[in-house]
Amino acid sequence: MDKMLVNGGLTLNGDVNVSGAKNSALPLIFSTLLAEGRHDLNNVPGLNDIDSAEGLMTSLGCTIKRDKAQMTIDVPAEVETLAHYDQVRKMRASILVLGPLLARFNKAKVSLPGGCAIGARPIGMHLDALEKMGAKIHVDAGYVVATTTGLKGAIIDLPFATVGGTENIMMAASLAEGTTTINNAAREPEISDLADYLTTMGVQVSGAGTSTIKITGQKELRAGSHQVIADRIEAGTLVVAGALSGGEVRVKNCRPDHLESFLQALGQMNVQIETTETEIHVKGCKNIKPISIVTEPYPGYPTDLQAQIMTLMTQADGVSHITEKVFENRFMHVSELLRMGAEIDIENKTATIVGKRNLLAAPVMATDLRASASLILAGLVAEGETEVNRIYHLDRGYEKLEDKLSGLGANIKRVKNKS
Ligand code: EPU
Repeated sequence: MDKMLVNGGLTLNGDVNVSGAKNSALPLIFSTLLAEGRHDLNNVPGLNDIDSAEGLMTSLGCTIKRDKAQMTIDVPAEVETLAHYDQVRKMRASILVLGPLLARFNKAKVSLPGGCAIGARPIGMHLDALEKMGAKIHVDAGYVVATTTGLKGAIIDLPFATVGGTENIMMAASLAEGTTTINNAAREPEISDLADYLTTMGVQVSGAGTSTIKITGQKELRAGSHQVIADRIEAGTLVVAGALSGGEVRVKNCRPDHLESFLQALGQMNVQIETTETEIHVKGCKNIKPISIVTEPYPGYPTDLQAQIMTLMTQADGVSHITEKVFENRFMHVSELLRMGAEIDIENKTATIVGKRNLLAAPVMATDLRASASLILAGLVAEGETEVNRIYHLDRGYEKLEDKLSGLGANIKRVKNKS
């Protein structure tokens, strides 16, 4: 297993480019199952999760070609409707093939994704909605088996604004008869990005980005091309790196308007930030102030930037609080930060972070994607050489993070495992 060595204490300066959004690219790739033909996706990040999506799509019979950030997907007239455990277990987002397969072929058998490090992550809301749209669903030997005589538009009231659930319903509704209304829909920018491509394919979509999305299904859709939006979580992670190091970092090719609650939190922490339409300029921070945040569905503070801001809070002048409301078990990075000298207490869903702690290098272990990022960030300020193990988690969702940070002046290198 590769590991990352980070020597802390250097000031970061310069420009860095943000890649395409993992959490947009994944549903977009699966949405191509809705229409036969050649789909062109641009700005697709080079990540292990994208490789997993490619593996799954190929196993279904699609042909994928990639040239840097350009992905071409050829979807045949007939595809396999079985998403095997071996493909799905690599990545939970694979459950997003359920909606499009069922809508186009009236049947799908998809392995249950199972839990993960950040919680049980059930998919009951996806299944309830599809049943309301006319699917018959049962679970057999670890697989969701779904059939229908034809999906029909329905009114779906989501109990929670689930991102994946909203995406699966949107894709299913695209080929359903009539109009589907999703109430309490997720409002994330990735939802709007998917809506844009569904529109390109010929679907009538309104309300994406609000809590009520209406989709009028079509008999047939056509393949098209689409540019994936910038990864707001990668952008935020790079902004925290700049803020922690006290340097001047320009994070380019991003969408500051997708990061309003995060940028507001950093502003309250005294981080000097300027934005243009596509850039975030971190202009250093000498006296970081403590704050309290609560993670919530968009436009609230994003859970995917919770671990990173916690590292910044270890350097604040006072006591900060984080309440994690989206996932049940997303404080796995805390025990590793403690090993580096942080002072953090967890009670139920709330972490209390005592600031102004001198972090010291230590061997630490990444436990999930965003936890890995917080440990790399901690390594940037810690005294000595921090060894971050199990960075395959990082490679799932950050494209060449070590190259991007090195480009800003960080001392970080990947050590390949020879075995
Ligand atoms: N939930 C249910 N039942 C459901 C669906 C969701 O109880 O049927 C619960 C989950 O267990 C969780 C909460 O609702 O506690 C939120 O889940 P959601 O469905 O919104 O999340 P997701 O679609 O599984 C996506 C991102 C995550 C991100 C969350 C929240 C992708 C591929 N993944 O997951 O990204 O944290 O939304 O914003 O889009 C990451 O990139 O590191 C990551 C984990």
